[in-house]
Amino acid sequence: MSVRQKSIVLIGFMGVGKTTIGELVAKKLYRSFIDVDKEIEKDFGMTIPEIFEQHGEAFFRDYEKKKTCALAQEKLKVLSIGGGAFLQPEIRQACLDNCIVFYLDVAWEEWKERLDILIDSRPVLKSRNINEIEELFYKRQDAYSINHSKLTVNHRSAEEVADFIVDSLK
Ligand code: S3P
Repeated sequence: MSVRQKSIVLIGFMGVGKTTIGELVAKKLYRSFIDVDKEIEKDFGMTIPEIFEQHGEAFFRDYEKKKTCALAQEKLKVLSIGGGAFLQPEIRQACLDNCIVFYLDVAWEEWKERLDILIDSRPVLKSRNINEIEELFYKRQDAYSINHSKLTVNHRSAEEVADFIVDSLK
């Protein structure tokens, strides 16, 4: 697949802005935007917390793997994938093989201000205390940082980050 046809994938921790920025990038590039979690919710007719509650995390991860790997094969899309998705080796491989990957990174100090608005819709956060969330945050940072463009979003608007992504493709 030529570089110009590759889909763009945004990765990073929950609440970093993958969906907002992804929608803007898609608009600027006249591409379709796919929020993989939204697609999973549509498939089940349930929210992600409901899927976790009724089927458990292992079930969700397995479905997330199938769905994300399939969507990563599509051309000319902009995708936002779940914050835990890139930790699955098959997903990481599918994204790195088929897509241009941007990692959206934010400082812990800035991210933790967002916790209150995220917690109810993110079972992974709800089941942990603040120290455990911080530990997960740093562990994930290591896992995200492989072989692709890293973009720090601290104090930058979604519009600025989206413009940066679009410009870096030229
Ligand atoms: C998860 C992140 C969520 C969603 C699920 C699990 C995670 O997506 O996939 O709640 O493990 O980080 P967002 O990163 O879009 O919040």
